Amino acid sequence: MKFFLDTANLAEIEEAASWGVLAGVTTNPTLYAREGGKLADFHSHLQRICALTDGPVSGETVGLVRDEIVREGIELAALAPNIIVKIPVMPEGLAATKTLFERGIKVNMTLCFTVPQALLAARAGAAYVSPFVGRFDDISEDGIEHLANTVTALSNYDFGHDIEVIAASVRSANHVTQAALMGCDIATVPFKVLKNLVKHPLTDRGLESFLADWEKVKNS
Ligand code: E4P
Repeated sequence: MKFFLDTANLAEIEEAASWGVLAGVTTNPTLYAREGGKLADFHSHLQRICALTDGPVSGETVGLVRDEIVREGIELAALAPNIIVKIPVMPEGLAATKTLFERGIKVNMTLCFTVPQALLAARAGAAYVSPFVGRFDDISEDGIEHLANTVTALSNYDFGHDIEVIAASVRSANHVTQAALMGCDIATVPFKVLKNLVKHPLTDRGLESFLADWEKVKNS
């Protein structure tokens, strides 16, 4: 499974890239707003992110009608070769995805909560589909079960183009483990979650005792 960072924070992206594990980045309007992002800087901010990774960087459209979404998508795709146009699942979004697919522009269909939504995204030509896990858990449903259903359903068919499933709205190491066990292609994780993935109390304890014993060796 590949790891994407779900953030618009440049320092976080830089640090994850320095670990050698960063395969891509996903952003959304909320994540950009969280960074104090201004409309006028949106495109240049995405370009700065694209310069920090060779992997795909999702920039989201906000239009609600096909032509508007397509126009935004074309503008976003022109920013850098690794931009992916992120479009919410809705009828106009599917239509825009189809148009962008025909122009060779890659789309990540986001806000996917059901198997039919993911199948429609795939049929419209999406290169990535992003089922949300944590937001199901937030309403006391099993987000991992929904993700597993989507992964299985998509694997049943040949869509005539490559499509990867991104586990999105990931909140914990367990979400990542479960996504990997079912063979999900990618997990996009907030930086806080990525940092937690590296940690385990037994690793900390083991390191502490190795270092203490090495002190004994040095002083012998
Ligand atoms: C997907 O790409 C989204 O940015 C994302 O994972 C949203 O998750 P949230 O539920 O943490 O907002």
